Amino acid sequence: MSARINPSILSADFVNFEAELATIAAADLIHVDVMDNHFVPNLTFGQQMVARLQQVTPLPLDLHLMIENPDRWAPDFAETGAFSVTFHAEAADDAVGLARRLRAIGARAGIAVKPGTAIDPYLELLPEFDQLLVMTVEPGFGGQALIEDTLTKVSKARRRIDAEKLDVWLQVDGGIDENNIERVARLGADTFVAGSAVFKATDRAAQIELLRNKANLGCQHRH
Ligand code: DX5
Ligand code: ZN
Repeated sequence: MSARINPSILSADFVNFEAELATIAAADLIHVDVMDNHFVPNLTFGQQMVARLQQVTPLPLDLHLMIENPDRWAPDFAETGAFSVTFHAEAADDAVGLARRLRAIGARAGIAVKPGTAIDPYLELLPEFDQLLVMTVEPGFGGQALIEDTLTKVSKARRRIDAEKLDVWLQVDGGIDENNIERVARLGADTFVAGSAVFKATDRAAQIELLRNKANLGCQHRH
């Protein structure tokens, strides 16, 4: 298995998405942060924008919904044809029911937890999901430093996924860069969101490759 690098276009130039997407063609998936100004104090993309982004990149879209009431809205995002739709555990009324609806539409279903949210109640639900997203910063903005405490959840989730032989991607998002990605991979993450670490680089293709190589090294030497 190869580690996946998903650049977050939250750090891209918002008036040049087509050109920006071309610079990250070496990515595995494109991470799209959907924010509603309620669940987080920031506002980004709606369904029309997501559908249009998919038209100008051949890469699969990895939607991260930081929105209230995902039970109401997440299926509409899946209907855009997005490859993966991750909603927040804190915002969902019926996480399992929603995951089933997303999968029925044809999307992979993901569940995300904020830094302050315990992971234990959600580990039981993992067979219903394709991805678990452990937020390594408070959601809302790019360019923040990784919160070390969150990493114990990565180890714990990895143990559960392996023990039950689940086919669930373990994603981390926030503050991931070339200096910490190998260490986070050793703890068990296999899918890495990187916003500023990719978009600040002058050679983004090389930076994506560097991140992937370091992540693969970590994955090979898991704790
Ligand atoms: C934060 C978003 C992240 C963000 C990551 O709420 O979910 O995807 O773009 O940005 P960096 O990698 O710069 O921390
Ligand atoms: Zn994100």
